[in-house]
Order: sequence, then structure tokens, then C-alpha cells
Amino acid sequence: MGVIFRQIKDLTSSTYTYIIGDSLTKEVAIIDSVRENVNEYKDLLFKNDWNLKYLIETHTHADHITAILQLKKHFPFSEVIVGKFSEAIYEVTKLKDKDHRKIGSYSIQFFETPGHTKDSISILFDNNRLMTGDCLFIGSCGRTDFQQGSIKDMYFSLNKIMELQEDTLIYPGHDYNNRFISNIKEEKLLNKMVKLINYDDFEKELNSWNLPPPKKISESVPANILGGLE
Ligand SMILES: [Fe+2]
Repeated sequence: MGVIFRQIKDLTSSTYTYIIGDSLTKEVAIIDSVRENVNEYKDLLFKNDWNLKYLIETHTHADHITAILQLKKHFPFSEVIVGKFSEAIYEVTKLKDKDHRKIGSYSIQFFETPGHTKDSISILFDNNRLMTGDCLFIGSCGRTDFQQGSIKDMYFSLNKIMELQEDTLIYPGHDYNNRFISNIKEEKLLNKMVKLINYDDFEKELNSWNLPPPKKISESVPANILGGLE
């Protein structure tokens, strides 16, 4: 008996969805579900007899639609958890920095890590696995140029994450180079954004990215503040 931990990649958006839980009580949480993959999650949950206790969104996504409404049909008692600045207009619990939940005998701690979006949170499971959403990426960080993103917030959020224990495992919300896992120590050594200690250099680097808008932003954000689509 021990932790349940699954990392599922959505190939279209390169999003990582995480299923975390306690194999003794069979309670699980799904972090950042993707609508197109709902059958995969359902199969996994039904096959293992897992009960979906929490549906957590690290932020309001601009690149995919969440599977929350579909999953709620099968697990109506699951609690949807988002950051306190989320603009969600369906039934959610908005958590603030350092709020806790339990899943079986394991802890889940929430950290506000704005920057990519204002409502971004990171989730620490069992004190040693951090799901960073689109704040800290392996070797980089999320973009900051829409949804009330802020370079200054990102700078402080990355520094806040770096204060965690060095052996804390890092699980990002995306990776475009097929990497799956990192840890705080490696990010301190190798992450190009974390290494930019001077704020002006950090700001200059992010301002130089000039990325095109996410392809699905105009359909994703309005759907996601409602929990997705039926
Ligand atoms: Fe995002």
C-alpha cells in the first residue's frame, strides 16, 4: 500500500495530467484533466475502483478544455479545487496559499504561484512531489503574456518554489521535449530562468520570447471558467 501516482500526457497540447492518491483508501485527485482524454481517466478509475475525491486545476487553461464537467457526471461528489483568483463561475472551492487537504493518509498542500496566470497554483503531494502547472517548467517557465500574467509574479513564484527541499520532485504542466520529471536541485543548476538571479535580466529574457497566442485560447478560457463543456 502506498501512494497512487500517474502522469498522463495529452499529445495534442503536450499537457501533463496527474492522478494522485492513496492506494489504501482508493481516494484519488486528478490534476489538470483534458477533455479529449476523459475515457482514459474513467477506465483507469473504474478498473482500479478508485474514488475521485478532488478535481484540481492549476490554472484556467488557454490551450485545452478541461474534463471536469464530464468527470463530475460520474463522480458527482468530487470537489473542484482552484486558486483563489480563479474566475470560475461553476461550483468550485477557491483555495489560498498554504491551504491543505488530505487524500487518504497523504497531504496535499497548495501554493499560490502566479505569473503565468494570476490564478496559478502549485500542488505539493506527500511533501515531496510538486506539480507546478505552467509556472516552473523543466529548464524554463511558463509564458506570462496573457490572462493577467506577470513577469514580476513569475520571478517571485520561481524563487518561492526554489525554497522547497532540494530533493522535491518536479512535475510540470507541460513539456515540449518529452521530459517528465525533474527536481529542485537540478532546476537550480540547469533552469535558464531560475539562473537569472537579476530581475532585469529575467524580465528582458521573457520579453524577448514573442510567442504566438495559444491556438485554442478563444474557445478554451470561456469553456474552462464553466468547468469545460457538456
Ligand atoms: Fe497554461
